[in-house]
Amino acid sequence: MIKRPLIVVLNGPNLNMLGMRQPEVYGRATLDDVEQICIQAAERLDVGIDFRQTNGEGELVSWVHECRNRAQGIVINPAAYGHTSIALLDALLAVELPVIEVHISNIHRREDFRHHTYCSRAAAGVICGLGVRGYALALQAMTDMILDENDR
Ligand code: DQA
Repeated sequence: MIKRPLIVVLNGPNLNMLGMRQPEVYGRATLDDVEQICIQAAERLDVGIDFRQTNGEGELVSWVHECRNRAQGIVINPAAYGHTSIALLDALLAVELPVIEVHISNIHRREDFRHHTYCSRAAAGVICGLGVRGYALALQAMTDMILDENDR
């Protein structure tokens, strides 16, 4: 039996507050809802997922490292660490896996300090401003990328 690819879905700080947190910006869906969206997308795409959230920068960095020998791709909403963390960028570059960055809100419509993300330098693509459906789109794109890679 061929093993299904594993995509790790990582979520950074304050995303555990989704649903309560600035709903006018992030909507009413909770992180549990986002996980369900990802589980359903993964079933449809026939991939495995490992969905996680942390408020800690170091933990997020360690989780990225863990992906190296275990996952085929990373979907990450780095939240505010995307704008600040060179350590997270370095970790994403170190693991040499395809990365797709997701932001629920359109960071380019918001404050200037949200327009730049370090993670984008490690990302094959960035999805932002499409709400929580961005996660399902990212899983679809990541699956395509992994399969294309396998076809080569
Ligand atoms: C976010 C956008 C970031 O600027 C912010 O710090 C977040 C969430 C988003 O999903 O829209 O925490 O990553």
